Amino acid sequence: MIRIKGITVAFGGVKPLRELSFQLSGAICGLIGPNGAGKTTLVNVLSGFVTPVAGEAEAFGTRLLDMRPEARHAWGLARSFQTPQIADDLSVAENVMVALDPLSLPGAERSQRLAMVLAETGLAPRAHVQGRRLDGFDRRLVELARCKVSRPRLILLDEPAAGLAATERAQLIDLIRALPVPGESMVLIIDHDIDLIAAICEQTAVLDFGTLVACGTTRDVLADPKVRAAYLGEFEEGTS
Ligand SMILES: Nc1ncnc2c1ncn2[C@@H]1O[C@H](COP(=O)(O)OP(=O)(O)OP(=O)(O)O)[C@@H](O)[C@H]1O
Ligand SMILES: [Mg+2]
Repeated sequence: MIRIKGITVAFGGVKPLRELSFQLSGAICGLIGPNGAGKTTLVNVLSGFVTPVAGEAEAFGTRLLDMRPEARHAWGLARSFQTPQIADDLSVAENVMVALDPLSLPGAERSQRLAMVLAETGLAPRAHVQGRRLDGFDRRLVELARCKVSRPRLILLDEPAAGLAATERAQLIDLIRALPVPGESMVLIIDHDIDLIAAICEQTAVLDFGTLVACGTTRDVLADPKVRAAYLGEFEEGTS
């Protein structure tokens, strides 16, 4: 369960989030909204890249914003980036291991976890390929493997399937479905593909202009006229 309370972010005169409050529970939940709605900004707040001027956030009863970003990672927060952040001169394995470096695990456990996620994501045959040589799909897979390897409690995925072909998306969705351990961990996924959100998210929050439009079970939220209005165009295309 994640609870957002009164979060406001200000970049000079721009306020991408304005007293935003909502809560979501479920193994996989969605965060949707038009371009510029504030979705990535919220992920940046939760992961510590942006400090809000006001508000609180709690996940599984822990207050996240009181912790430094490294402490949030150690607690069990992992995120992916809208544009995958892959180091060009590190191998696939090294790019994934970056998430374990701060956790000071015994060497055998590190190797075991790495081998497991590389096998699960299908990256094992390319473990030694350098980041600069990876195609778009492999970059998305590396980001997912990096999220998974630390066995986090809260996983924030910022448009993890954007730009992928339909078969690649389907493969990625299967991997995302397998990410959370019900009751112990949660995935919050941002995506513009309403069909994807409808297929995998128990609950969904909708933002527009930095405020909440709707929040609740995905089915109710997607039927809400306010949501349909916010999505006019993209949404009707996706469902007609
Ligand atoms: N560092 C920044 N400085 C100034 N304005 C910013 C900054 N980061 C984001 N913004 C603005 O905040 C608003 C919300 O941006 P954000 O990236 O959170 O939107 P989003 O919902 O993720 O959109 P998209 O679907 O296009 O990824 C936008 O108007 C954006 O231009
Ligand atoms: Mg974004």
